[in-house]
Amino acid sequence: MTVSTIIHARYALSTRSLSQARSQRRRHNCGCVHDTRPGTKVAALQLATPVSIVQAWKQYGGEVIPRVSFTDIERGLSNAQKDHIKKSGVVVVTGAVPKEEALRWKVSLKEYITANPVKAPQFWHDPSNKRVSFSTPISYLDRLRIRTPGDSSFTLDPHIDGGSIERWEDPTFRRVFRRILAGGRDLYNAPGQCSVLRCWQGWTSLSTTGVGEGTLRVLPMLSLATAYIMLRPFFRPSGPSGGEWELDLESSLFPGSIPGKGQELNEETHPHLKLGETMTSIPEIQPGDQVYWHCDTVHSVEKLHGGQKDSSVFYIPAVPLTVKNASYIRDQRINFVHGLPAPDFPGGSGESTFAGRATAQDVTTSQGRRALGFEPFLSEGIENNELVNAANRVLFG
Ligand SMILES: [Fe+2]
Repeated sequence: MTVSTIIHARYALSTRSLSQARSQRRRHNCGCVHDTRPGTKVAALQLATPVSIVQAWKQYGGEVIPRVSFTDIERGLSNAQKDHIKKSGVVVVTGAVPKEEALRWKVSLKEYITANPVKAPQFWHDPSNKRVSFSTPISYLDRLRIRTPGDSSFTLDPHIDGGSIERWEDPTFRRVFRRILAGGRDLYNAPGQCSVLRCWQGWTSLSTTGVGEGTLRVLPMLSLATAYIMLRPFFRPSGPSGGEWELDLESSLFPGSIPGKGQELNEETHPHLKLGETMTSIPEIQPGDQVYWHCDTVHSVEKLHGGQKDSSVFYIPAVPLTVKNASYIRDQRINFVHGLPAPDFPGGSGESTFAGRATAQDVTTSQGRRALGFEPFLSEGIENNELVNAANRVLFG
């Protein structure tokens, strides 16, 4: 039996149990799930926990994270591979950029940093149906990381990006999770969130980095963890031991949700996730390999870089073309031309005074120029004509 089969079987079991528990409850107009019998212990949280999945984690470690090669993607992934990626919320893509090229990027980057020493620099990177074109990637200028051996200052505890309390508070954001809150069959089937539609966060490695060398850690079970996180505020421990849980519809407590911050998670706020055992480091990757993870996938960064060489990445997420995203890259293009930080990372003079800063002339391929909004997008057929025309109007009038 493969790792994927084990995970799927256990996922299906937990999902079925959760929906059975749900059927004992009644849906109210507010969209929340209410137990009709006050004080009833609801099994949903216990049944939806990854306890059984933890066994697979222990046995297989990083193998639970799907891994495909770039040529696999070009050939087309199988439905089983796609399903595994969707449910886990993370994927390693090997060989996305030739190793030598990725290492050349790092050399040139270090030269640029040396020529423009600042405390906390931000750099530009070369990126690369009708309402959204997933086959037309656009740029989202993000950050980079070069972590030196022994570093323990760059650390991020388990969290999910894109705000915290807003998931429940904001009507539009809450709608993303309507199937979970309404008790529908699908636990998760919605786009990510950001000021652009950024479906998957991602980075491209510039170094050989293994477990324990300051790499990314993920909780590779997106659907199940999201259901648990969204329902967590509506439950509380029913006794001092904390073993049993019951519905709590009176408290205004949202564990780990701090306005203006990402959603934080730990063993105390979200005990059933057993983060101490389930957070999994990305297995060794080479320069040019990429990792993508859904924006709602719980992730963190290893506290200590215990390796011998730098652990370096470019943050390059997967962002499709939509009209709203086109308006973002229009504003991003203006800032890029002036060397200012991208709109989602506002403040400061950015790279405007830096020597050797990249300009539009440095982007030589049409695909790269389109991704940055310097050339019109091309229609791929009648079905996305309207989208492409609308995006081009936003960008070029
Ligand atoms: Fe994050």
